Amino acid sequence: MSVQGKVALVTGGSGGLGRIHALTLAEKGADVAVTGNRNLDKAEAVANEIRALGRRALAVKMDVSKEDEVIEGIEKIKKELGPVNILVNNAAIGIVRAVLIEKMSKKDWDLDLSVNLTGAFNCIKAVIPEMKEGKWGRIINVSSVTGTMGGLGQCSYAATKAGLLGLTKTIALEGARYNITCNAVILGVFGGEKTERGVSGAPEVSSFYDVAEPFRERIIKRIAMRRQGDPKELSNVVAFMASEESSYVTGASIMVNGGSDLFTF
Ligand SMILES: NC(=O)c1ccc[n+]([C@@H]2O[C@H](COP(=O)([O-])OP(=O)(O)OC[C@H]3O[C@@H](n4cnc5c(N)ncnc54)[C@H](O)[C@@H]3O)[C@@H](O)[C@H]2O)c1
Repeated sequence: MSVQGKVALVTGGSGGLGRIHALTLAEKGADVAVTGNRNLDKAEAVANEIRALGRRALAVKMDVSKEDEVIEGIEKIKKELGPVNILVNNAAIGIVRAVLIEKMSKKDWDLDLSVNLTGAFNCIKAVIPEMKEGKWGRIINVSSVTGTMGGLGQCSYAATKAGLLGLTKTIALEGARYNITCNAVILGVFGGEKTERGVSGAPEVSSFYDVAEPFRERIIKRIAMRRQGDPKELSNVVAFMASEESSYVTGASIMVNGGSDLFTF
């Protein structure tokens, strides 16, 4: 899979699954920018890991929910590494809170939408003119089974992850004649390191890894493969979607979930 000579941006690439996507793309030949939205320490550390692989890298301060920060960040990447050819919209507020809709505040709803959905909109809007000019682009949106199956107590998260699938198909249509593909990965449950929950105002809690053990066991029993995914099993799919070899795949959503949506008992 070739991403040689391309410039990739992985939002939320300073830790968690985003870090693995960034390193996988670097291993496969791309120069990679990663974002940090509170401080740049973790993003800088990932950038150093990328440099150690022999690629160019940049840590960029960018809250994806803020359009001006996104535009500024993309400009910085352009100056340092070149125009963004590959965008991985990975940054999100995850399962930060599980509350029934009548207890969900409008403020929290707005916050989740502003990062998970508007964040992807901001980033796509900022990179697509250069992709069109260069007649090549790869956009990968990170969705979730919660977006296709719903999630108890996760109305905002589910709505954003479902929204990304509609956005994916629309951008696929808009980019098709410019060799720009837009695809989504629909994630099940993945393990990995615990990362900063880098969002303004959001509590520093909960990735799947923080979920209490009995609850975790219940989730695993609902996965056909009876295990959570290894981040590398996901980043290989992301790298394929980012590569030259996926040139005729667009508007697609690939389930990477070990059979989480299959009926099992
Ligand atoms: N881990 C899983 O099992 C799982 C399952 C389904 C979907 N996902 C999705 O995968 C992606 C990565 O998840 P993760 O488990 O690595 O979570 P994570 O919380 O470890 O990583 C999310 C990243 O997004 C960044 N971020 C948050 N708000 C931001 C903002 N406003 N601007 C810029 N960056 C911001 C955080 O700093 C963090 O680096 C997310 O889109 C998540 O919804 C993960």
